Amino acid sequence: MTLRNVKIFFARWKYLMFACCVTYLLVVYAPFPNSNQKNWREGEIELSNEHETEKTEAKKEEEKTDKNKVFKFNPVGKEPFDVEEILTSSDIKISERMNANVKPGEKRIILSWNAGHSPDNLQGCPDWNCEFTQVRSRVNEAAAVLIAHNDPDFKPTPDQYVLYFSQESPANSGISLPRTDFVNMTLGFRHDTPAGSPYGYSVKLGPKSRLQGPVVDASLVKGKSKGAAWFVSHCQTSSRREEFVRRLQKHIQIDIYGGCGPMKCPRGNKKCDTMLDTDYHFYVTFENSICQDYVTEKLWKSGYQNTIIPLVLKRKLVEPFVPPNSFIAVDDFKSVREMGDHLKYLMSNNTAYMEYFEWRRDYKVIFLDGSHHDVLERPWGFCQVCRMAWTDPRQRVIIPNWDVYWRQSCEKDGELVKSIPDVL
Ligand SMILES: *[C@@H]1O[C@H](CO)[C@@H](O)[C@H](O)[C@H]1NC(C)=O
Ligand SMILES: *[C@@H]1O[C@H](CO)[C@@H](O)[C@H](O)[C@H]1NC(C)=O
Repeated sequence: MTLRNVKIFFARWKYLMFACCVTYLLVVYAPFPNSNQKNWREGEIELSNEHETEKTEAKKEEEKTDKNKVFKFNPVGKEPFDVEEILTSSDIKISERMNANVKPGEKRIILSWNAGHSPDNLQGCPDWNCEFTQVRSRVNEAAAVLIAHNDPDFKPTPDQYVLYFSQESPANSGISLPRTDFVNMTLGFRHDTPAGSPYGYSVKLGPKSRLQGPVVDASLVKGKSKGAAWFVSHCQTSSRREEFVRRLQKHIQIDIYGGCGPMKCPRGNKKCDTMLDTDYHFYVTFENSICQDYVTEKLWKSGYQNTIIPLVLKRKLVEPFVPPNSFIAVDDFKSVREMGDHLKYLMSNNTAYMEYFEWRRDYKVIFLDGSHHDVLERPWGFCQVCRMAWTDPRQRVIIPNWDVYWRQSCEKDGELVKSIPDVL
């Protein structure tokens, strides 16, 4: 055979030879389907390794999807949106909050002993089979009992949750209890309790719900010329916010509407409803007292539901719950004048001002008005009481010392405001 003949031979038969090789390899090395697990024997290192790798790959995949899991929120009459995460200081993740371990054919009872409310408060989770009642004689049936006033003359069983309901600051509300550990959870603004029920909350949006394009209607912002607005009717407070506002007024215009100031703007008047969007740069959301997690509709509604930058008293108090770079805090500054200068700077530099709205791309802030009940309440309050009522065995929750938890959760009167000098 000449070299030429060899070449021709290979050219003619190469496909057949290739096919033979492939068939040989397949027959010798390919595992039989499903033989993997059944024929696996201890000591067969390769196979067991393969098995391990498969498992970790699958696990990795699972972890990844769990992390990227989004929850569809579909509130009645509003645009649906995907939620990736809820901003909270609580370690109860959204995946835990959104599902209850409901037993078909059974229900759980939530009794309001003297805390008002109605079955409507469970409308965010009708599929979780909880029943609301105010009939005290059913106390022994109840998984959870709500109190708001001072006559809790029942003996809770070890499996029952006692909840204290209050949306008021501890500086202005409280209860005397038969024991320091009588209450298991609170239902109110606090996040460090499984049934927290804040005035509003922020969510990180899932990728599909994130905002493209402009975050703010530029025509709204264009006409803004005034400094800050403040609607207020409680004029002398524990936080001494009124003193701070008086001092800040020396540096920047702050228009005080309502019972404590000269300006009037009745609710329902069209101009009054839109002027936070169109006239003012900042809104004063200072609370009457500085207490752990105490953030009310001043921030969640007036602040975040308008195109305006909210001013708050204490950064650390709101930071865990709100989108990044979305507010300005009094204690960010060394002096009142420094704060005034910064606000004036933002009024003069539209680019810098607009940076405070960039969060709208990736986050949404939801206001809960307490009277409209839907899926937006599912991760909070009554729905979470219901979820906890289904835990089996029932998850223990204890507040060991009520005084520390409630009464001692506020700053002393005027503490923060007094610590900030007028000028350095
Ligand atoms: C205005 O703000 C932008 C964004 O923060 C900044 O880059 C720019 O330097 C500012 N302009 C002036 C004149 O200060
Ligand atoms: C509620 O608190 C009391 C007092 O600490 C405790 O005995 C009880 O077991 C708690 N209930 C639940 C369901 O955790």
